[in-house]
Amino acid sequence: MKELNRKIEHLSDSVIRRMTRISMECGAINLSQGFPDFDPPKFIMDNLARVASEGPHQYSPTWGAYNYRAAVAKKVGTFMGIELDPDKNVIGTIGSTEAMMATMMAISNPGDKIVIFSPYFENYAAQSLFNSIEPIFVPLNPPAFTFDADRLEEAFKDPKTKAMLLCNPSNPSGRVFTKEELQTIADLAIKYDVIVITDEVYEHIIFEPHKHTYIASLPGMWERTICCSSLSKTYSITGWRLGYIVACEELMNRCKKIHDFLTVCAPSPLQEAIVAGLEAPMSYYKELQDHYTHMRDIFVGGLKDLGWKFTEPEGSYFMMVDISEFQKGMTDVEFCEKLAYKVGVAAVPGSSFFREDVNHLARFHFAKKDETLYEALERLSKIKDLM
Ligand SMILES: Cc1ncc(COP(=O)(O)O)c(C=O)c1O
Repeated sequence: MKELNRKIEHLSDSVIRRMTRISMECGAINLSQGFPDFDPPKFIMDNLARVASEGPHQYSPTWGAYNYRAAVAKKVGTFMGIELDPDKNVIGTIGSTEAMMATMMAISNPGDKIVIFSPYFENYAAQSLFNSIEPIFVPLNPPAFTFDADRLEEAFKDPKTKAMLLCNPSNPSGRVFTKEELQTIADLAIKYDVIVITDEVYEHIIFEPHKHTYIASLPGMWERTICCSSLSKTYSITGWRLGYIVACEELMNRCKKIHDFLTVCAPSPLQEAIVAGLEAPMSYYKELQDHYTHMRDIFVGGLKDLGWKFTEPEGSYFMMVDISEFQKGMTDVEFCEKLAYKVGVAAVPGSSFFREDVNHLARFHFAKKDETLYEALERLSKIKDLM
C-alpha cells in the first residue's frame, strides 16, 4: 500500500474519549468527558417530539435553516451587543467542532502559525495538524492560569502568525478572562493583524462575580474575530451536534465555502427543534447559571472538605485538581487509570492538555446530577485506602 497521510502517523486517539471508554469498561463515574447525565429542558424535548412528527426530515439549506440562523442571530446578537444578519453573519454547523475546523481551513495556508494558550482543549492541536498550521503555545501558568503579556506578544510578532485561538471560558482551566486580559489580546491582534478565533462553548456557564466578555465586542475586533460556539452545553444537548459560526461578512464568506463541502448541513430536525431553546427568555440563562453554580458548590465544596488542592473554576464545568499528594510515583496517566479502576471515578490526566511538562494535575467535570456528584465524592474520600 502506498504511504497514507503521514501527518496523522503519530496522532494518538483523544485521551478524553479514551477515559470515557475506560470509565464504561470499569463502571466508574465518568467525570472525564464533559457531558451532563441529566436531560435537556422539557420544553426542548417536547419541541423535538413535535418535529419528529411534523418534520423537517430532509437537508436544510447549507448555511442552516433560516429559522435556526435567525434565532441564533437574535440570541447571540443580544448577548454580544452586535446586530447580526442571519444571512450574512451566521452559519449553522455540526457543533463547535466543525465550526472550528471549517474556520481554520477557511483562513489558513500551510505553514501559517496559530497562537494557542496551554493548557488547551485537545482538539486544537489535531485541527492545527490537519490544516498544516503550526501552533505557538503560550503558557497559562497554574495555579492561577494567567498569561504573560510579553510572551504573548512574542508569539503575535512572528510574521507567520495568522490567528489566535481563544477558548473563553476556558477548558480545561476553568478560567474566564477579564476584560483587561481580553483587551491585551485585542490590542495585539490589531497591532499585528491577527485574526482571533473564539471557542466560547461555555459562554453561559460563569460563576459570580466573573463575567463573560465577547472579544468580538471590543473596539476594532468585530472585523477580525470568528466566533465559534455550540448549543451542546447551553441546552444540555451534546449529542445533537449543533453549533454555529458568527463573523463579519468577509470572513464568513470564506467559512461558507468550506462548510458547504465539508458537511452539507447540520441535522435539520434538530435545528428546528432547538429554535425553542434559542428563543427562551433571559431567565433561562440565569437558571442555567444557578444550576451550574449549585453543581460547582457541591463538587468544589466536597473536595474542599476532603482537603484536596485545586484551582477554583471561574466558568465552564471543569476544574484542575492537584493530585501530587496521591501519585506515589505514578504519572498522571497511570494515576487516572488507577483512579477509574480502583476508586471508581474517571478524570482526565492533566498532561494531555499541556504542552509544558506538567504531570501533577487531573481534570474533573461536575455537570452531573447531585446524587452522582455525592457518590463521586464518597468514592474519592476513600482514595488513600484504595490506591
Ligand atoms: C472547549 C470546547 N470546545 C468545543 C467542544 C466541542 O463542542 P461541540 O459539542 O459543539 O462540538 C468542547 C466539548 O467538550 C469543548 O470543551
